[in-house]
Amino acid sequence: MSAESKSFYLTTPIYYVNDAPHIGHAYTTVAGDVLTRWHRQRGESVWFLTGTDEHGQKVLNTAKANGAEPQQWCDKLVEGAWKPVWQSLNIANDDFIRTTEPRHMERVQRFLSGLKDQGHIYAGKYEGPYCIGCEEFKLPGDLLAGELCPTHSTPCEILSEENWFFRLSAFVPALLDHYKKDPSACEPTSARNEVISFLEGEVQDLSISRSTFDWGIPVPWDTKQVIYVWFDALLNYATAVGLGDDVGTPGAKKFAQTWPADVHLVGKDILRFHAVIWPAMLMAAGLPLPKKVFAHGWLLVGGEKMSKSKLTGIAPADITDHFGVDAFRYYFLRAIPFGSDGSFSWEDMSARYTSELANDFGNLASRLIAMIEKYCDGVIPALAHDDALSAALNSAAETADAAICALDFQGGINAIIDFCKRVNGYVTEQAPWVLAKDPANKVELDKVLYNTADSIRALAVLLHPVMPATTQILWESLGAQETLGDIGLQKIGEVSRWGQLPPGSKVTKGAVLFPRLEEKAE
Ligand code: MSP
Repeated sequence: MSAESKSFYLTTPIYYVNDAPHIGHAYTTVAGDVLTRWHRQRGESVWFLTGTDEHGQKVLNTAKANGAEPQQWCDKLVEGAWKPVWQSLNIANDDFIRTTEPRHMERVQRFLSGLKDQGHIYAGKYEGPYCIGCEEFKLPGDLLAGELCPTHSTPCEILSEENWFFRLSAFVPALLDHYKKDPSACEPTSARNEVISFLEGEVQDLSISRSTFDWGIPVPWDTKQVIYVWFDALLNYATAVGLGDDVGTPGAKKFAQTWPADVHLVGKDILRFHAVIWPAMLMAAGLPLPKKVFAHGWLLVGGEKMSKSKLTGIAPADITDHFGVDAFRYYFLRAIPFGSDGSFSWEDMSARYTSELANDFGNLASRLIAMIEKYCDGVIPALAHDDALSAALNSAAETADAAICALDFQGGINAIIDFCKRVNGYVTEQAPWVLAKDPANKVELDKVLYNTADSIRALAVLLHPVMPATTQILWESLGAQETLGDIGLQKIGEVSRWGQLPPGSKVTKGAVLFPRLEEKAE
């Protein structure tokens, strides 16, 4: 692939820095990390962006309530909480954008001036409810009795402000056309239907500035106003890759390599911003639209969206301290169909950890290494082949690739775990410990161990995007780091080519991949 070719570009939402990340935020970011690692292992060039949304009333109010200046508050949380949590979860993002960075603020101002020059912006008056929790201008029909926001169950503010407006309504026919012609532009289908029915209703123009506080990017031609936080935030996807930079500059080159984004990953709470306002902004500027907005479901606690404001947020460390980082990365994508809501349950996580990770996968690997040490002096035996295993691997890899590229993480992981179960079945049927009792069976024993080892080689590669640290340990204990190189460089498209693990290489007993939970709790 040439350096000039288009990268697979994936974004997560940029998160508000009113608090530290909880597992709902981590759910989106881990999904993005798994998908981008998968695409990298397909041999594609990839760009993975995440970041923080730092302007607006919500962050300002939180900073004030904590007796801090907003910038100081954001710096502290970003450096002290957000970046360290992503690092601890092994998130391999290529860039991290903060909306208070000059590179973002300057490009946002330039973009807005461009829209104004082209007649997409006009002065008007906004009167109506506003939810600070959502940072959203609400329609009266959106609210519960007592002007309560349905998401936050808190009263909305009633605003009356002279603001700048974006002619959002002018783009409704083109947006409808876009989603009707290209169903993959908004997924899953439930999300697309929601967007279409919203567009078929009364879409109002959008106020894109605020005048009652100053924590934001100044409107370039009217500096008493700041740009509405969502208008500012959505642009991060494009400012981070050089939006509007002059031809020939590094920014322009990066933009050509990345834009349009392949996937904007979002929770269903922020679907309309991404599937209505954002593409309309791009259309107004004459830019290509993102290929896909994918809205996943919510992690629920007590049947409601887990959230900090409702005091139901669980910190990732509360789970990773007990189960480890890789089990955390695995569990949510494995247990909840991406796109549906799901409840977090400690019991379900413990059960899957024990049956799928510790027993099916971890034990298979440790038994194999122990048998090679015992029966083959710790050396991978002669190359062998098993038609049925090889066919099962082929089909697992194909199913997993198709599913994960379609963001069906559950389907993809299932296919891989089913193959793992198949390999366990093979070991049980062949019973190498019985073969080992008679030296006359040595050739047969070696064959069984080679076939198992090469299957585990493939499992490590296929599970690497989901569980990078554990599979790295396994890779090293198979001796594959020395002979085959970095696990992250192993290609998905070649994983089912049988016989890659070189006979003669030395295996070593590594750390237990998934320790028994009781032992960890001590
Ligand atoms: N700052 C805006 C996004 C701007 S993007 C241009 C925002 N931030 S947020 O901090 O509230 O994060 C929202 C995102 O966090 C959701 O869309 C989702 O990706 C994730 N989640 C937050 N709570 C969640 C759950 N309970 N369950 C699943 N995902 C959740 O909105």
